[in-house]
Amino acid sequence: DDAVSRALAAFRAGEPVLVHDFDDREGETDIVYPAGAVDPADVARLRNDAGGLVCVALSHDVAEAVDLPFLDGVIDHPTAAAHDLAYDDRSSFSLPVNHRDTFTGITDEDRALTISELSDAAEAALAGGYDAADFAADFRSPGHVNLLRGAPNLLADRKGHTELGLVLADAAGLPAAVVVCEMLDDESGAALSPAAARDYARRSDLVYVEGESIVERFA
Ligand code: 5RP
Ligand code: CA
Ligand code: ZN
Repeated sequence: DDAVSRALAAFRAGEPVLVHDFDDREGETDIVYPAGAVDPADVARLRNDAGGLVCVALSHDVAEAVDLPFLDGVIDHPTAAAHDLAYDDRSSFSLPVNHRDTFTGITDEDRALTISELSDAAEAALAGGYDAADFAADFRSPGHVNLLRGAPNLLADRKGHTELGLVLADAAGLPAAVVVCEMLDDESGAALSPAAARDYARRSDLVYVEGESIVERFA
């Protein structure tokens, strides 16, 4: 009954889990959901209780199948010339997208549609026969849900929330699409402390898991 096993059970039940990366990395706790489970109330939880940027991580194989680039590789502007991050070698940002059936794309209903449809797209891409043209028929870019590209060998290559979340989805037998959103402290505006994130987990009956525990189990 360890935290990783409870996280996998929560994922299988469509529940979110709280994932803290590492004190010597971002030092952030993200609320992470399997993308296929997300409904409008879940998007409301992300913006109200987490408060960071709502992103969907797709695995490397999915991104390759539908031709999703890293954003820094396609931004034709000097801001993208140097990819110098303080906490890792590179970000995992890909394109921001909206499902084509959304209106503005930002409402809870619109983002929930984009997010849940991304799970179906990931599943279709891995099954084969769903390519970039199919993805473009379903989604437009720019949009209001930021895509992230997982590293090819997940935790062996990179230990971000992108990979930590995708590893949980894989181990839970779910499509390679997870929503992540950083938990911020409403008082200070800083990253929510692990103690406060644990407290939120307790109050909300959610699982809190350390990135280190996920690495120990799966890396
Ligand atoms: C997007 C981010 C977040 O940190 C998110 O957790 C994904 O990034 P990473 O894989 O680097 O942790 O930057 O809002
Ligand atoms: Ca970040
Ligand atoms: Zn992160």
